[in-house]
Amino acid sequence: MSIYRQSRSAIRKIVFGDTLIPQEFTIGLIDPQTEITVFLHGMGAPIVVTRRLTTACCAPLVLGVSLDEGQWAAGSGHCKLSLRFYERAGAKRLLGEIWLESRAVIPLDCTELHLFDVLGSINHCLPRPRLWAHFLSQAYSNRRNVGSFDVKMTARELRAAIVTFIRPHPLMLGSLIGEAGGNMFPMNLMGELGNGYFAFALKDSRRAAHLVEDAGRISLSNVPLPLCSTAFQMAVNHTKDSISWDQLPFALKTSKEFRIPVPAAAPRVRELQVEQIRKIGSHTLFIARIVSDEKYSDDLQVHMIHGFFQHWRMRDRKSELAASLAADLLNKRGLARS
Ligand SMILES: Cc1cc2nc3c(=O)[nH]c(=O)nc-3n(C[C@H](O)[C@H](O)[C@H](O)COP(=O)(O)O)c2cc1C
Repeated sequence: MSIYRQSRSAIRKIVFGDTLIPQEFTIGLIDPQTEITVFLHGMGAPIVVTRRLTTACCAPLVLGVSLDEGQWAAGSGHCKLSLRFYERAGAKRLLGEIWLESRAVIPLDCTELHLFDVLGSINHCLPRPRLWAHFLSQAYSNRRNVGSFDVKMTARELRAAIVTFIRPHPLMLGSLIGEAGGNMFPMNLMGELGNGYFAFALKDSRRAAHLVEDAGRISLSNVPLPLCSTAFQMAVNHTKDSISWDQLPFALKTSKEFRIPVPAAAPRVRELQVEQIRKIGSHTLFIARIVSDEKYSDDLQVHMIHGFFQHWRMRDRKSELAASLAADLLNKRGLARS
Protein backbone atom coordinates (compact mmCIF):
# COMPACT_ATOMS: atom_id res chain seq x y z
CA MET A 1 0.00 0.00 0.00
CA SER A 2 1.33 3.48 -0.91
CA ILE A 3 2.15 5.98 1.85
CA TYR A 4 -0.76 8.15 0.65
CA ARG A 5 -3.19 5.26 1.01
CA GLN A 6 -1.78 4.24 4.37
CA SER A 7 -2.15 7.76 5.79
CA ARG A 8 -5.64 8.10 4.32
CA SER A 9 -6.71 4.84 5.90
CA ALA A 10 -5.16 5.88 9.27
CA ILE A 11 -7.02 9.21 9.19
CA ARG A 12 -10.32 7.47 8.36
CA LYS A 13 -9.75 5.10 11.28
CA ILE A 14 -9.25 8.04 13.65
CA VAL A 15 -12.27 9.99 12.32
CA PHE A 16 -14.79 7.15 11.95
CA GLY A 17 -13.44 4.46 14.32
CA ASP A 18 -15.40 1.25 13.77
CA THR A 19 -18.52 3.06 12.51
CA LEU A 20 -17.88 2.60 8.77
CA ILE A 21 -20.81 0.25 8.31
CA PRO A 22 -23.00 -0.06 5.19
CA GLN A 23 -25.88 2.38 5.43
CA GLU A 24 -28.43 -0.17 4.24
CA PHE A 25 -27.77 -3.01 6.65
CA THR A 26 -29.47 -6.42 6.60
CA ILE A 27 -30.33 -8.45 9.70
CA GLY A 28 -32.55 -11.43 10.42
CA LEU A 29 -35.48 -10.83 12.78
CA ILE A 30 -38.74 -12.51 13.62
CA ASP A 31 -41.65 -10.61 12.06
CA PRO A 32 -43.10 -8.34 13.38
CA GLN A 33 -39.94 -6.81 14.81
CA THR A 34 -39.94 -6.16 18.57
CA GLU A 35 -36.76 -4.07 18.96
CA ILE A 36 -38.14 -0.57 18.39
CA THR A 37 -41.28 1.30 19.42
CA VAL A 38 -42.23 4.51 17.60
CA PHE A 39 -44.38 7.15 19.32
CA LEU A 40 -46.13 10.14 17.78
CA HIS A 41 -45.68 13.08 20.17
CA GLY A 42 -47.35 16.48 20.20
CA MET A 43 -51.07 15.68 20.39
CA GLY A 44 -51.45 15.07 24.12
CA ALA A 45 -50.56 11.56 25.32
CA PRO A 46 -47.97 9.91 23.01
CA ILE A 47 -49.51 7.50 20.49
CA VAL A 48 -47.78 4.23 19.52
CA VAL A 49 -47.43 4.22 15.72
CA THR A 50 -44.76 1.52 15.26
CA ARG A 51 -47.06 -0.44 12.93
CA ARG A 52 -48.83 2.57 11.44
CA LEU A 53 -45.96 4.27 9.74
CA THR A 54 -44.61 4.43 6.22
CA THR A 55 -42.28 6.45 4.02
CA ALA A 56 -44.52 7.99 1.38
CA CYS A 57 -41.83 9.65 -0.73
CA CYS A 58 -38.07 10.30 -0.52
CA ALA A 59 -37.71 13.63 -2.39
CA PRO A 60 -39.38 15.46 -0.84
CA LEU A 61 -39.19 13.21 2.22
CA VAL A 62 -42.79 12.64 3.25
CA LEU A 63 -43.76 10.30 6.09
CA GLY A 64 -47.22 8.80 6.53
CA VAL A 65 -48.78 8.01 9.91
CA SER A 66 -52.21 6.45 10.11
CA LEU A 67 -54.57 7.28 12.95
CA ASP A 68 -58.02 5.96 13.71
CA GLU A 69 -60.84 8.20 12.50
CA GLY A 70 -61.34 11.03 15.01
CA GLN A 71 -58.02 10.46 16.81
CA TRP A 72 -56.41 13.55 15.27
CA ALA A 73 -59.44 15.74 16.08
CA ALA A 74 -59.52 14.40 19.66
CA GLY A 75 -55.83 15.22 20.21
CA SER A 76 -54.72 18.47 21.78
CA GLY A 77 -52.08 21.01 20.81
CA HIS A 78 -50.86 19.54 17.51
CA CYS A 79 -47.69 21.53 17.97
CA LYS A 80 -44.10 20.31 17.87
CA LEU A 81 -45.27 17.04 16.36
CA SER A 82 -42.56 14.42 16.27
CA LEU A 83 -41.85 10.73 15.86
CA ARG A 84 -39.70 9.29 18.63
CA PHE A 85 -37.87 6.01 18.18
CA TYR A 86 -37.24 4.11 21.44
CA GLU A 87 -35.57 0.80 22.14
CA ARG A 88 -38.34 -1.49 23.33
CA ALA A 89 -36.39 -3.53 25.90
CA GLY A 90 -33.69 -2.58 28.41
CA ALA A 91 -33.44 1.07 29.41
CA LYS A 92 -35.94 2.06 26.69
CA ARG A 93 -33.54 4.70 25.44
CA LEU A 94 -34.54 7.34 22.91
CA LEU A 95 -32.55 6.56 19.75
CA GLY A 96 -33.88 9.16 17.35
CA GLU A 97 -36.51 11.81 16.77
CA ILE A 98 -38.00 13.41 13.62
CA TRP A 99 -39.94 16.70 13.81
CA LEU A 100 -42.95 16.85 11.53
CA GLU A 101 -45.14 19.38 9.81
CA SER A 102 -48.62 18.44 8.63
CA ARG A 103 -48.88 18.26 4.84
CA ALA A 104 -52.12 16.44 3.92
CA VAL A 105 -54.71 14.01 5.22
CA ILE A 106 -56.02 11.09 3.20
CA PRO A 107 -59.32 9.76 4.57
CA LEU A 108 -59.69 5.96 4.47
CA ASP A 109 -62.33 3.65 5.90
CA CYS A 110 -62.21 4.15 9.75
CA THR A 111 -58.66 5.51 9.29
CA GLU A 112 -56.91 8.71 8.31
CA LEU A 113 -53.49 8.66 6.70
CA HIS A 114 -51.65 11.82 7.78
CA LEU A 115 -48.79 12.86 5.54
CA PHE A 116 -46.01 14.91 7.09
CA ASP A 117 -43.07 16.92 5.81
CA VAL A 118 -39.89 16.69 7.83
CA LEU A 119 -38.60 19.73 9.72
CA GLY A 120 -35.50 18.16 11.26
CA SER A 121 -34.22 15.18 13.20
CA ILE A 122 -31.76 14.00 15.82
CA ASN A 123 -30.00 10.65 15.90
CA HIS A 124 -28.61 9.20 19.14
CA CYS A 125 -27.21 5.97 17.67
CA LEU A 126 -23.65 7.30 17.38
CA PRO A 127 -21.67 9.77 19.52
CA ARG A 128 -22.10 13.28 18.08
CA PRO A 129 -18.52 13.74 16.74
CA ARG A 130 -18.76 10.43 14.83
CA LEU A 131 -22.24 11.28 13.56
CA TRP A 132 -21.11 14.65 12.25
CA ALA A 133 -18.00 13.15 10.70
CA HIS A 134 -20.36 10.92 8.67
CA PHE A 135 -22.72 13.78 7.83
CA LEU A 136 -19.89 16.02 6.64
CA SER A 137 -18.31 13.24 4.59
CA GLN A 138 -21.72 12.38 3.04
CA ALA A 139 -22.40 16.06 2.28
CA TYR A 140 -19.02 16.35 0.53
CA SER A 141 -19.57 13.15 -1.47
CA ASN A 142 -23.19 14.13 -2.36
CA ARG A 143 -22.01 17.55 -3.58
CA ARG A 144 -19.50 15.92 -5.88
CA ASN A 145 -21.94 13.31 -7.22
CA VAL A 146 -25.18 15.29 -7.23
CA GLY A 147 -25.50 15.09 -11.01
CA SER A 148 -25.67 11.28 -10.92
CA PHE A 149 -28.58 11.02 -8.41
CA ASP A 150 -32.09 10.66 -9.77
CA VAL A 151 -33.56 11.10 -6.26
CA LYS A 152 -32.16 14.37 -4.90
CA MET A 153 -32.71 14.57 -1.15
CA THR A 154 -31.60 17.51 0.99
CA ALA A 155 -29.14 16.97 3.86
CA ARG A 156 -32.04 17.42 6.30
CA GLU A 157 -34.09 14.77 4.48
CA LEU A 158 -31.16 12.34 4.33
CA ARG A 159 -30.56 12.66 8.07
CA ALA A 160 -34.25 12.09 8.84
CA ALA A 161 -34.41 9.12 6.45
CA ILE A 162 -31.56 7.55 8.44
CA VAL A 163 -33.65 7.89 11.61
CA THR A 164 -36.63 6.15 9.93
CA PHE A 165 -34.38 3.10 9.45
CA ILE A 166 -33.88 2.75 13.21
CA ARG A 167 -37.23 0.96 13.01
CA PRO A 168 -36.38 -2.31 11.17
CA HIS A 169 -38.11 -2.46 7.77
CA PRO A 170 -38.95 -5.95 6.48
CA LEU A 171 -37.54 -6.66 3.03
CA MET A 172 -40.23 -7.97 0.70
CA LEU A 173 -40.45 -9.28 -2.83
CA GLY A 174 -43.36 -7.68 -4.64
CA SER A 175 -44.83 -9.72 -7.48
CA LEU A 176 -47.51 -8.92 -10.00
CA ILE A 177 -48.99 -9.99 -13.30
CA GLY A 178 -49.45 -7.27 -15.89
CA GLU A 179 -50.16 -6.94 -19.58
CA ALA A 180 -46.54 -7.58 -20.54
CA GLY A 181 -46.24 -10.60 -18.24
CA GLY A 182 -45.11 -10.98 -14.65
CA ASN A 183 -42.49 -9.25 -12.54
CA MET A 184 -40.96 -9.60 -9.07
CA PHE A 185 -38.74 -6.99 -7.35
CA PRO A 186 -37.44 -6.11 -3.85
CA MET A 187 -39.20 -3.44 -1.78
CA ASN A 188 -38.67 -1.92 1.65
CA LEU A 189 -40.37 1.50 1.63
CA MET A 190 -43.63 0.35 3.11
CA GLY A 191 -45.68 -0.04 6.25
CA GLU A 192 -48.88 -1.31 7.75
CA LEU A 193 -51.51 1.35 8.35
CA GLY A 194 -53.89 -0.62 10.57
CA ASN A 195 -57.60 -1.36 9.93
CA GLY A 196 -56.70 -3.64 7.01
CA TYR A 197 -54.65 -1.06 5.09
CA PHE A 198 -51.07 -1.16 3.87
CA ALA A 199 -48.99 1.44 2.01
CA PHE A 200 -45.82 1.34 -0.08
CA ALA A 201 -43.76 3.76 -2.15
CA LEU A 202 -42.18 3.13 -5.55
CA LYS A 203 -39.88 5.37 -7.57
CA ASP A 204 -41.90 7.08 -10.26
CA SER A 205 -38.98 6.92 -12.71
CA ARG A 206 -38.81 3.10 -12.69
CA ARG A 207 -41.15 0.63 -14.41
CA ALA A 208 -42.25 -1.12 -11.19
CA ALA A 209 -44.38 1.85 -10.07
CA HIS A 210 -46.23 1.93 -13.39
CA LEU A 211 -46.73 -1.83 -13.50
CA VAL A 212 -48.41 -1.72 -10.07
CA GLU A 213 -50.48 1.26 -11.18
CA ASP A 214 -51.74 -0.69 -14.22
CA ALA A 215 -52.24 -4.03 -12.44
CA GLY A 216 -53.93 -2.46 -9.37
CA ARG A 217 -52.82 -5.37 -7.21
CA ILE A 218 -49.62 -6.91 -5.87
CA SER A 219 -48.46 -9.79 -3.69
CA LEU A 220 -45.84 -8.99 -1.05
CA SER A 221 -43.68 -11.84 0.22
CA ASN A 222 -41.42 -11.54 3.24
CA VAL A 223 -37.91 -12.76 2.48
CA PRO A 224 -36.24 -15.60 4.43
CA LEU A 225 -32.50 -15.06 5.06
CA PRO A 226 -31.28 -17.67 2.52
CA LEU A 227 -33.12 -15.77 -0.25
CA CYS A 228 -31.67 -12.36 0.66
CA SER A 229 -28.82 -12.09 -1.85
CA THR A 230 -31.13 -13.25 -4.65
CA ALA A 231 -33.69 -10.62 -3.62
CA PHE A 232 -30.98 -7.93 -3.84
CA GLN A 233 -29.95 -9.13 -7.29
CA MET A 234 -33.57 -8.73 -8.39
CA ALA A 235 -33.38 -4.93 -7.86
CA VAL A 236 -32.76 -4.57 -11.60
CA ASN A 237 -36.33 -5.84 -12.17
CA HIS A 238 -37.55 -2.39 -11.05
CA THR A 239 -36.51 -1.26 -14.53
CA LYS A 240 -38.16 -4.12 -16.47
CA ASP A 241 -41.65 -4.63 -17.88
CA SER A 242 -41.56 -8.34 -17.18
CA ILE A 243 -39.35 -11.28 -16.29
CA SER A 244 -39.53 -15.02 -17.03
CA TRP A 245 -40.80 -16.83 -13.98
CA ASP A 246 -38.92 -19.96 -15.02
CA GLN A 247 -35.57 -18.09 -14.93
CA LEU A 248 -35.87 -17.40 -11.20
CA PRO A 249 -33.36 -19.42 -9.14
CA PHE A 250 -35.94 -20.50 -6.53
CA ALA A 251 -39.19 -22.44 -6.42
CA LEU A 252 -42.51 -20.64 -6.74
CA LYS A 253 -46.03 -21.16 -5.48
CA THR A 254 -49.11 -19.04 -6.18
CA SER A 255 -50.66 -16.51 -3.82
CA LYS A 256 -53.98 -17.41 -2.25
CA GLU A 257 -56.53 -15.21 -4.05
CA PHE A 258 -54.74 -13.48 -6.94
CA ARG A 259 -52.82 -16.62 -7.98
CA ILE A 260 -49.66 -14.55 -8.53
CA PRO A 261 -46.32 -16.41 -8.39
CA VAL A 262 -44.51 -15.86 -5.06
CA PRO A 263 -41.42 -17.57 -3.58
CA ALA A 264 -42.33 -21.04 -2.26
CA ALA A 265 -40.10 -20.33 0.77
CA ALA A 266 -41.82 -17.03 1.68
CA PRO A 267 -42.59 -17.07 5.41
CA ARG A 268 -45.48 -14.61 4.94
CA VAL A 269 -47.46 -13.47 1.89
CA ARG A 270 -49.86 -10.55 1.77
CA GLU A 271 -52.08 -9.77 -1.20
CA LEU A 272 -52.94 -6.11 -1.69
CA GLN A 273 -55.62 -4.41 -3.76
CA VAL A 274 -54.56 -0.85 -4.54
CA GLU A 275 -57.23 1.72 -3.59
CA GLN A 276 -55.44 5.05 -3.91
CA ILE A 277 -52.40 6.26 -5.80
CA ARG A 278 -50.69 9.55 -4.90
CA LYS A 279 -47.85 10.90 -7.00
CA ILE A 280 -45.87 12.97 -4.52
CA GLY A 281 -42.41 13.62 -5.95
CA SER A 282 -39.65 11.10 -6.63
CA HIS A 283 -41.99 8.34 -5.42
CA THR A 284 -45.59 7.30 -5.92
CA LEU A 285 -47.48 6.30 -2.79
CA PHE A 286 -49.80 3.30 -3.09
CA ILE A 287 -52.49 2.81 -0.45
CA ALA A 288 -53.95 -0.66 -0.54
CA ARG A 289 -56.41 -2.98 1.19
CA ILE A 290 -55.03 -6.26 2.53
CA VAL A 291 -57.01 -8.99 0.75
CA SER A 292 -55.17 -11.92 2.33
CA ASP A 293 -52.36 -12.37 4.84
CA GLU A 294 -50.89 -15.89 5.04
CA LYS A 295 -48.19 -16.79 7.58
CA TYR A 296 -46.27 -19.96 6.81
CA SER A 297 -43.32 -19.92 9.26
CA ASP A 298 -41.74 -18.06 12.17
CA ASP A 299 -38.21 -18.27 10.73
CA LEU A 300 -35.93 -15.24 10.76
CA GLN A 301 -36.79 -12.83 7.96
CA VAL A 302 -34.65 -10.18 6.32
CA HIS A 303 -35.05 -6.71 7.81
CA MET A 304 -33.22 -3.55 6.79
CA ILE A 305 -31.86 -1.06 9.29
CA HIS A 306 -29.38 1.80 9.08
CA GLY A 307 -25.71 1.02 9.77
CA PHE A 308 -25.65 3.58 12.63
CA PHE A 309 -28.38 1.62 14.42
CA GLN A 310 -26.48 -1.62 13.81
CA HIS A 311 -23.45 -0.03 15.48
CA TRP A 312 -25.63 0.92 18.43
CA ARG A 313 -27.12 -2.61 18.61
CA MET A 314 -23.59 -4.11 18.70
CA ARG A 315 -22.01 -1.52 21.02
CA ASP A 316 -19.48 -3.19 23.35
CA ARG A 317 -19.69 -6.36 21.20
CA LYS A 318 -16.88 -5.81 18.72
CA SER A 319 -16.57 -9.41 17.53
CA GLU A 320 -20.31 -9.66 16.96
CA LEU A 321 -20.22 -6.39 15.02
CA ALA A 322 -17.50 -7.85 12.77
CA ALA A 323 -19.50 -11.07 12.32
CA SER A 324 -22.62 -9.08 11.43
CA LEU A 325 -20.67 -7.15 8.76
CA ALA A 326 -19.62 -10.45 7.19
CA ALA A 327 -23.23 -11.72 7.39
CA ASP A 328 -24.50 -8.53 5.76
CA LEU A 329 -22.10 -8.96 2.85
CA LEU A 330 -23.20 -12.57 2.47
CA ASN A 331 -26.85 -11.50 2.63
CA LYS A 332 -26.40 -8.95 -0.12
CA ARG A 333 -23.98 -10.54 -2.51
CA GLY A 334 -23.72 -14.15 -1.42
CA LEU A 335 -20.04 -13.36 -0.66
CA ALA A 336 -18.07 -13.73 2.53
CA ARG A 337 -15.97 -10.68 3.51
CA SER A 338 -12.29 -11.32 2.75
C1 LIG B 1 -33.25 -4.15 -0.95
C2 LIG B 1 -33.89 -3.21 -1.93
C3 LIG B 1 -35.08 -2.60 -1.62
C4 LIG B 1 -35.67 -1.71 -2.52
N1 LIG B 1 -36.85 -1.11 -2.20
C5 LIG B 1 -37.41 -0.23 -3.05
C6 LIG B 1 -38.64 0.41 -2.73
O1 LIG B 1 -39.25 0.15 -1.68
N2 LIG B 1 -39.14 1.31 -3.62
C7 LIG B 1 -38.50 1.60 -4.80
O2 LIG B 1 -38.99 2.43 -5.57
N3 LIG B 1 -37.35 1.00 -5.14
C8 LIG B 1 -36.80 0.10 -4.30
N4 LIG B 1 -35.62 -0.52 -4.64
C9 LIG B 1 -35.06 -0.26 -5.97
C10 LIG B 1 -33.92 0.73 -6.00
O3 LIG B 1 -34.28 1.94 -5.41
C11 LIG B 1 -33.47 0.98 -7.46
O4 LIG B 1 -34.40 1.73 -8.15
C12 LIG B 1 -33.30 -0.29 -8.22
O5 LIG B 1 -32.33 -1.03 -7.53
C13 LIG B 1 -32.84 -0.05 -9.68
O6 LIG B 1 -31.61 0.61 -9.68
P1 LIG B 1 -31.43 2.07 -10.34
O7 LIG B 1 -32.48 2.94 -9.73
O8 LIG B 1 -30.05 2.48 -9.94
O9 LIG B 1 -31.63 1.90 -11.80
C14 LIG B 1 -35.05 -1.43 -3.77
C15 LIG B 1 -33.83 -2.06 -4.07
C16 LIG B 1 -33.26 -2.94 -3.17
C17 LIG B 1 -31.96 -3.61 -3.52
